[in-house]
Amino acid sequence: MKANTPCMTNEPTPAIESPSFDRDDASAPRLLNMLANRRSFALKDITTDPVDRALITQLLEAANWAPSHGKTEPWRFVVYSGVARQQLSDAFGAAFQVLNPAQPAGSVGELAQSQRVWQAPVWIALGMQPSQKMPEWEDLIAFGSAVQNMHLMASALGLASKWTSGAVVLHPSVVTAVGFAPDTKLYGFFYVGHPAIAWPTGERRPIADKVRWVDDSTDAK
Ligand SMILES: Cc1cc2nc3c(=O)[nH]c(=O)nc-3n(C[C@H](O)[C@H](O)[C@H](O)COP(=O)(O)O)c2cc1C
Repeated sequence: MKANTPCMTNEPTPAIESPSFDRDDASAPRLLNMLANRRSFALKDITTDPVDRALITQLLEAANWAPSHGKTEPWRFVVYSGVARQQLSDAFGAAFQVLNPAQPAGSVGELAQSQRVWQAPVWIALGMQPSQKMPEWEDLIAFGSAVQNMHLMASALGLASKWTSGAVVLHPSVVTAVGFAPDTKLYGFFYVGHPAIAWPTGERRPIADKVRWVDDSTDAK
């Protein structure tokens, strides 16, 4: 397989059990707990130990269960690990140079960009191929849902991960290096490794601040 070949393996899709939908069992609280404990990790909080390919396959499988209007399934991935990360190292370094022409070659900034790929054992390029069948915003949301599924599965497996974007990783030279189909847009990378720290706690502003209810409980005058 070429290093740039997307890593959707030929392994069969795992059988999915029928759900029970029993409100009295612990599934719903467990799900909420899982959602709230999906966490993003800084690279410095990840070990360099490799991640089993079987675990990465589970992340990809989870991603593939995202919804999409018209069943467009627009998510596309390229998985980098081991020495193949050198391709990303080179691309990130080159992108930094193009974006910062005043910096000398081998600057601290360039080195930081080219070295970061070695801090996480797996980097997944996140691509979205517009279907041309549905409005692009719908494909984009479907793609984002796929990445969220991937992230949830990573956290469920106790893996440390993060969606990373920014000018360097989205630069056209990185797009070229990843080699998605020409119409596929790169929206960053999802890096994965093992946590080097205790699982971080998340925080959110209250949902009540973001919702307005219009129902029978609204003061009907
Ligand atoms: C589309 C997208 C792009 C992101 N890009 C970055 C990034 O470039 N750098 C970064 O530190 N975090 C990035 N994040 C992660 C957010 O910072 C993180 O989700 C947020 O801080 C909430 O933390 P949590 O994921 O642990 O709940 C990105 C998240 C999303 C959804």
